[in-house]
Amino acid sequence: MTSAQTVASANRGATVGNGTTLWLTGLPSAGKTTLALALARVLRERGADVEVLDGDEVRTHLSAGLGFTRQDRETQVTRIGYVAELLARHGVIVLVPVIAPYQDARDKVRAHHESHGTAILQVHLSTPLEVCAERDVKGLYAKAFRGEISAMTGVDDPYEIPVDPDLRIDTSTLDQETSVAALIGLLLERGRL
Ligand SMILES: Nc1ncnc2c1ncn2[C@@H]1O[C@H](COP(=O)(O)OP(=O)(O)O)[C@@H](O)[C@H]1O
Ligand SMILES: [Mg+2]
Repeated sequence: MTSAQTVASANRGATVGNGTTLWLTGLPSAGKTTLALALARVLRERGADVEVLDGDEVRTHLSAGLGFTRQDRETQVTRIGYVAELLARHGVIVLVPVIAPYQDARDKVRAHHESHGTAILQVHLSTPLEVCAERDVKGLYAKAFRGEISAMTGVDDPYEIPVDPDLRIDTSTLDQETSVAALIGLLLERGRL
């Protein structure tokens, strides 16, 4: 192989390695899962290698046994961040529709990615609580308001608004298609596609 070919192949490697973690944080029913799955479909059609690490699914596998205390939520976010970074480092676009209510835990995930030189984008789905509670996809807001469950994010458990996200999307004002387009726009703008 000539040195020019070596450089070319090294560059190609760098381009292929445009894996990224794209974390969608927000209240329950904000639209995280819906947008992640819709975006995954579009990205796969474009030939991208995509994985979705959904909070609920992860809780039955990677985080089985974890509950909803602050400590357990932080552990959940740290674990998912760890796996996402591993995948993203190897060229996968990792979509993470996970509440991640604490700024500190989100910052740690970002720092972990940056320490490995792996790209991470954090998107805040800023859909207002009233809209999320109205949607109540899993009926959990109603249960929390009736006092049948506790530690419900946004009701009697904190959600710290992200201080400096890469993008905010309010899905009560932006429809699904436009929201997905905004996420693709972000990936393109940051050179991740
Ligand atoms: N622009 C939008 N983006 C995403 N979801 C939307 C949008 N507009 C309405 N929805 C609806 O909001 C609900 C969001 O639920 P889900 O994606 O499960 O939320 P989360 O994963 O954040 O808890 C779905 O019923 C979805 O159809
Ligand atoms: Mg979800």
